[in-house]
Amino acid sequence: MKGKDMDPTMKYPGKLTPRVVLTCLLAATGGLIFGYDHGVSGGVTSMDSFLEKFFPSVYAREAGMKPSSNQYCKFNSQILTLFTSSLYLTALISGLGASTITRKLGRRATMMIGGVFFVLGALLNGLAIHMWMLIVGRMLLGFGIGCANQSVPIYVSEMAPYKYRGALNMCFQLSITIGIFGANLVNYYFVDLLNGQGWRLSLGLGAVPAVIFLVGSFFLPDSPSSLVERDRLEEAKRELVKIRGTHNIEAEFNDIVAARESSKHVKHPWATLRQRKYRPQLVLAILIPFFQQFTGLNVITFYAPILFRSIGFGSTASLMSAVIIGSVKPVSTLISILVVDKFGRRTLFIEGGLQMLVCQIIMAIAIGIEFGTSGIPGKLPHWYSVVVVGVICIYVAGFAWSWGPLGWLVPSEIYSLEVRPAAQSITVGVNMISTFIIAQLFTLMLCHLKFGLFIFFGCFVVIMTTFVYKLVPETKGIPIEEMSRIWDDHPFWGRFVRSTEEDTKSHMGNSKC
Ligand code: BGC
Repeated sequence: MKGKDMDPTMKYPGKLTPRVVLTCLLAATGGLIFGYDHGVSGGVTSMDSFLEKFFPSVYAREAGMKPSSNQYCKFNSQILTLFTSSLYLTALISGLGASTITRKLGRRATMMIGGVFFVLGALLNGLAIHMWMLIVGRMLLGFGIGCANQSVPIYVSEMAPYKYRGALNMCFQLSITIGIFGANLVNYYFVDLLNGQGWRLSLGLGAVPAVIFLVGSFFLPDSPSSLVERDRLEEAKRELVKIRGTHNIEAEFNDIVAARESSKHVKHPWATLRQRKYRPQLVLAILIPFFQQFTGLNVITFYAPILFRSIGFGSTASLMSAVIIGSVKPVSTLISILVVDKFGRRTLFIEGGLQMLVCQIIMAIAIGIEFGTSGIPGKLPHWYSVVVVGVICIYVAGFAWSWGPLGWLVPSEIYSLEVRPAAQSITVGVNMISTFIIAQLFTLMLCHLKFGLFIFFGCFVVIMTTFVYKLVPETKGIPIEEMSRIWDDHPFWGRFVRSTEEDTKSHMGNSKC
């Protein structure tokens, strides 16, 4: 996203050509793979045959063969959670490396490398006979995700005609939620196949979109901005003609070249970001992804089946509940896409926060009353399961139309051009580390906090909702180039920006003296 080409008042001619449509499909495949790998592990780790093979002691506790001190603790195993979480560590590392490859070799090269990792990771997982194959497979998938998440959104925003850019940004999030839902469905339908080895199909199936992604990125062209960045100007011009479907591309081409020139002047984006006037942007770059993960949503994404089995649901019922919950996300994300520019970001953030909080309190009470601290249920009436699943659905809907998409959209809108890549890396990095922490510590937290786990995340939701209310300015309808005014006008952040301006003025005054 470069300079003037983000100005919504500016008209570059061009239409939605087949080449651009293919780009969008490829981007959707990238999101699907991320969502699939995100959603598949929780169901798999609740399957008996999988547990018996790789985690016999968890299986023994879960099947009641070995006593567990507490029902809430029967899935407590740091290796079990490492299977889910390892992906986010490697995604973090490769995301940082991928930014250099994306710049030097182009977006397409990064996507192809990501595609190779995806295919290898999915195959290794599907064929796993040892624990290391599971963990290494997940790590390879993580490398793929780091590459894809770094390159695909940039590629799409560079290829898309400017007026479709915002919608495409959120479509990436939509395809993530569809991928999660797909994984929930696959787990449900495959659990009993292959003589109880259905988990192999669940894990291996990830290779199908991965191959599509790999082959697709091989055939797609690199973006004009990336070609300009690597000084291949004539090629960039020809590509721009093809993707816009017109020869009238001079204005856009010149802006891409101008943006490239001005970005050359920002020699030290990381040091620049530490300056006082960027403090609001830096704080939001860190806190928004951190809070997004500490809503606790991924506890449900990754571990809903385990959570349900811990509170006494059967294996199939647990996987089915995950499917029902998974279906809520894409629908709610779609609603968010439709209303975000009407109601604004703050309204959605605050409404979503309150909705999640109420649900978390109800869940803590419902599980606390029925299971106490021992986790041993009485005879669960049918209505009880319906209420628990229903409340979780409302909670997930609250996330999926607020912190889910906005956790990515708002950061991408508020960074000034000169610090955008550095700030975006921080956002992705904090998101991955926070996801890792939640994924790794969930079973331990459930074991110790019990039903209080929901209160724990509820406290964070109170903090983040207050934070939005007080400190996150509205960005709805403000062109990216004019975004700096949201800080100038803000009662708190204005102090940082204004004092910097005053410092600069007084400094200039002193130097005149
Ligand atoms: C988050 C993921 C989450 C997904 C679910 C994304 O925005 O970053 O961690 O699982 O939304 O909708």
